[in-house]
Amino acid sequence: MKKQKLIVFRCSSCGRTEPKWLGRCPDCGAWNTFVETQGGPSGGQTKQAAAIPRSLPLDSVDSDEGVRFSSGSVELDRVLGGGIMRRAAILIGGEPGIGKSTLLLQSAATAGTKGRVLYVSGEESAGQLKLRADRLGLSCERVEIFCSGHLEEITALLESLKPVVIIIDSVQTLYTLEAGLVPGTINQMKYCAFELISWVKEHDAALFLVAHVTKDGVIAGPKTLEHMVDTVLYFEQTDSDSRFLRAAKNRFGSVDEIGIWTMGERGLSAVEDPSLLFLVRRDGALPAGVATAAVLEGSRTLLVEIQALTVPSKGSSSRVYSDRIDSARVSRVAATLEKSLGLTLSDQDIYINVAGGLRVNEVGVELALAASIYSARTGLALPERTVISGELTLAAEVMPVRRLASRIKTARNLGFERFIGPAGDTETAKDHAVTAVKNLREAISVITEPPL
Ligand code: TYD
Ligand code: MG
Repeated sequence: MKKQKLIVFRCSSCGRTEPKWLGRCPDCGAWNTFVETQGGPSGGQTKQAAAIPRSLPLDSVDSDEGVRFSSGSVELDRVLGGGIMRRAAILIGGEPGIGKSTLLLQSAATAGTKGRVLYVSGEESAGQLKLRADRLGLSCERVEIFCSGHLEEITALLESLKPVVIIIDSVQTLYTLEAGLVPGTINQMKYCAFELISWVKEHDAALFLVAHVTKDGVIAGPKTLEHMVDTVLYFEQTDSDSRFLRAAKNRFGSVDEIGIWTMGERGLSAVEDPSLLFLVRRDGALPAGVATAAVLEGSRTLLVEIQALTVPSKGSSSRVYSDRIDSARVSRVAATLEKSLGLTLSDQDIYINVAGGLRVNEVGVELALAASIYSARTGLALPERTVISGELTLAAEVMPVRRLASRIKTARNLGFERFIGPAGDTETAKDHAVTAVKNLREAISVITEPPL
């Protein structure tokens, strides 16, 4: 019997085959990539695809390190893991008005690259952008502006301009007729983002995609882009003028680093020594419920003021209100306090705040958190100019923390006279300013003892 020729459809992006044409590949998510090919029962291998695939010895591959360049901002470089990586796609999310366009315009003008930078704005006119650049005092000779959200126009421009950095402000204004008429739909965003990401990967450029995020942090649309890009950064704002940039995902660096800026008359300026930013200046004694902690944020050590308030619960169950420190951590520390010191907290509502609005996720904050809750509940103020650091176990032991010496040094540099924390090496044991404590009970007795 004559073998019947089979027609199959093969995705030109990932190679998946299907018996019928599909608009979008279920495997790689690419659009309009299915092409008709002849195939057999073996899955429709074309001659080319049937060639034996070759791997490479990893040792023979040149590393991509060294293909980074500076974004022009020390803080942005830090969050990116040491600068902008070529072929990287970076998503920057944040609420409207937080400073995404400002940051990227500043970076467009100052990035450490010789090539052209294309700033595509679907939100502002060229005149508005120029006004902003002038206000910021930027010289933008390398920066090209294009005000459109039309994907085909943008890609045509990319081909002729061949920029090395492309900024899309914002993904929500991108559209293509290929994916429906309404800009901002998830389909539109994914289709357009995919095309632009493919372009930068092929042309050794870097792509920034700006995404607006709604108030409660839900980025219904842009969230779906997270898996397509290499790096996801979120801009956060506190009640003050400071802005934090955090990495939620980073293929080329750590996600622990944060960038800190303040927004002022002349745009965003980096806060290179943020150690004082999260402390409250006070004359005289501390109020009850306030403790100063030395915590790590990526490669930096910061001193932060932890504030606690306890009030009898109104309902039958008590609650923890804490959005800067994880509520589960607060509940656990409160339970440890209750058990080891017999301090009743289970009938109290506990409110926790971190001055300056920083979110603290580091375990080293736990002992200071316990001290602030203790102080709030008992009404006994903690001693002034004292920094506390340490992790707590459920059995109320104080555990060692990473980089103890750096925490002690930061505290001393900022004029704090005493450091209470876990025992360190022999060097710290000799330091008179450091009081090593083994457990929570010992720590509390040290901080509540009357000054000498
Ligand atoms: P913008 O970068 O437009 O925010 P986004 O792109 O995230 O929506 O920032 C706009 C805000 O920043 C706006 O409220 C004005 C303020 N701003 C300053 O305070 N100083 C400045 O120099 C600039 C450029 C903006
Ligand atoms: Mg903007």
